[in-house]
Amino acid sequence: MTLLVTGVAGFIGSNFVYHYLDRHPERTITGIDNLSYAGNLDNLSALTDEQQERFIFVKADITNPDQVGTIFEDYPVDGVINMAAETHVDRSIHDPQVFLKTNILGTHVLLETAKHSWQKRGAWKKGAKFLQVSTDEVYGTLGESGFFSEATPIDPHSPYSASKASADLIVKAYHDTYGMPVTITRCSNNYGAYQFPEKLIPLVITNALHHKSIPVYGDGKQVRDWLYVEDHCRAIDLVFEEGRTGETYNIGGNTEKENIIIIKEILRLLETMTGDTTITQELISFVKDRPGHDRRYAIDASKIRKELGWSPRVPFQEGIDQTVRWYIDHQDWMARVMSGEYRDFYAKNYNNRNF
Ligand code: NAD
Ligand code: DAU
Repeated sequence: MTLLVTGVAGFIGSNFVYHYLDRHPERTITGIDNLSYAGNLDNLSALTDEQQERFIFVKADITNPDQVGTIFEDYPVDGVINMAAETHVDRSIHDPQVFLKTNILGTHVLLETAKHSWQKRGAWKKGAKFLQVSTDEVYGTLGESGFFSEATPIDPHSPYSASKASADLIVKAYHDTYGMPVTITRCSNNYGAYQFPEKLIPLVITNALHHKSIPVYGDGKQVRDWLYVEDHCRAIDLVFEEGRTGETYNIGGNTEKENIIIIKEILRLLETMTGDTTITQELISFVKDRPGHDRRYAIDASKIRKELGWSPRVPFQEGIDQTVRWYIDHQDWMARVMSGEYRDFYAKNYNNRNF
């Protein structure tokens, strides 16, 4: 199978490339990314020489039908895992348009290109598949109790989550109308290495290491369900291989935490690990709440557990310890991804094709 993975230079995409090449030593990946501010080929620089031989990178934009079409012509793609997206809720509030373009139209370009190519080559009968990586945010928000199941009606509140929900509906329409072999995954909040320092956990770590204030939106009592990124990658791999066509699978960590609790725990770990006693809770600053802020997410992941035998393996304390340690040890990475200089360097020097 020639697998096309989109968004490989981002947080989950790069972690997925490491996971997949490690778990499937006989397989290859063709990876694409448009190297937006969130995509850094630096994230893939820890691939071994042997793994690099099984990884082809093409700088391409999923919203561009010519670029995506060329990839399907040049490589006999018969599997797609779509992770490319604009992903930061705050950015979607300030500038929604690029979210609609990438997340909705980009997904449609991939579906349409795959449909034409696969129909022409009779690839559907030979096991071609399309997996859309979606998010629990499409379900909206919960009160103090209850969980999102796959049957929960979608009710997105931010331009980001609305764009992801729209993409899910189009993916499902391609299944129902054309018989496209699709699956959809909806995961809760991920944490781990290579996450761009705009998201809560790496932002807290970066700011604290620089003794900058840590903005806590509203009262800080919003709840997220946290999952170590490697557990998410393992779930995506499993759903792609064994998930039932046309189905959606929720993925979650069963680890609900208030933001303020996470922030205090990170500060405690940073102080202990660095020995810097000026990293204290005094850095915390309560600021104006995010508009439309979802109060609580919690995932019922019983479907993927029962059907595919998946459950999270990394307990939160172990995962957050490793994550904080990773960022302390990779402060040069943080500086580079924030500056963007390496992004431009790698874009020029590490492309198999430069569009
Ligand atoms: P990310 O922002 O770190 O990575 C997204 C990647 O997509 C970046 O490398 C970016 O350059 C690339 N990209 C953006 N626009 C593109 C375009 N037009 N063409 C090609 N590439 C493009 O995001 P992430 O956290 O790794 O999220 C990956 C996927 O997982 C997204 O679809 C997101 O909705 C989903 N997801 C994320 C989480 C989470 O907690 N991070 C949870 C559930 C689902
Ligand atoms: O649930 C899955 C989603 O998780 C993914 O689909 C998104 O791509 C991903 O960004 C994430 O969305 P969130 O909005 O939950 O993540 P974020 O890290 O932006 O914020 C987590 C919580 O922390 C949220 O309640 C807002 C709060 N927050 C965030 C930032 C960046 C703060 O209080 N202060 C901050 O500075």
